Amino acid sequence: MKPISVAIDGPVSAGKSIIGSKVAARLSYLFIDTGLMYRAVAWKIQTNFASKKKWSEMAALSKFEWRNNPSSPTILLDGVDVSEKLFSPDISLLSSQIATNSEIRKSLVKCQHDIAKEGGVVMVGRDIGTVVLPDAPVKVFLTASVDARASRRYQDLKERGINISLDQVKEEMIERDRIDSTRVDSPLKPAEDAVLIDSTTLSIEAVVEKILAYVQTAGLKVHGG
Ligand code: DC
Repeated sequence: MKPISVAIDGPVSAGKSIIGSKVAARLSYLFIDTGLMYRAVAWKIQTNFASKKKWSEMAALSKFEWRNNPSSPTILLDGVDVSEKLFSPDISLLSSQIATNSEIRKSLVKCQHDIAKEGGVVMVGRDIGTVVLPDAPVKVFLTASVDARASRRYQDLKERGINISLDQVKEEMIERDRIDSTRVDSPLKPAEDAVLIDSTTLSIEAVVEKILAYVQTAGLKVHGG
């Protein structure tokens, strides 16, 4: 039986990464945080700013590899672990800005299709249920209130040693959500058949259990049980 795929989308700091990685661990599936791919390309563009190469070409020539590190997902860009470099506020904003470029999106979506073609993947991002894996049997749109998301992000950045005030975090988050949900190509929105989960007052474990319950039901349907 081919394992199913799980698509999780949602705005900034809705908990997609931590929840997605836990769901993947429980299912022994691969976990892919597609946000890291956009961040890695943003980082590449920023560090090669003087280059004459087109941004879309830089994205198309990028090679991504993953290490399933349980505490924090790790991405290798062109053979180098860049994971620690991807969370500064300027890279966050730039990743959202370059994600409006359709040529860049096309290259990254192609990589994502290649990774997911055998199933058995939990993929998180903004357009997974709508564009990347429209046939995924389990689609979740994860949200939480702006304040809950801002304070989670603030904590996360603090733990990564990034000094930024809660107000700045909130501002950056609102701006990124605006760019991500109003762009023309693959805007952030729930797929029509996605299950909405508001995690404002739920624990991580409670959300993980909810998603695992959907996976079980969907898996039985897909496999004719
Ligand atoms: O999930 P994240 O915050 O690490 O993502 C960084 C940016 O990448 C986000 O603001 C928009 C973009 N992104 C996207 O457009 N599509 C995806 N599937 C994942 C991320």
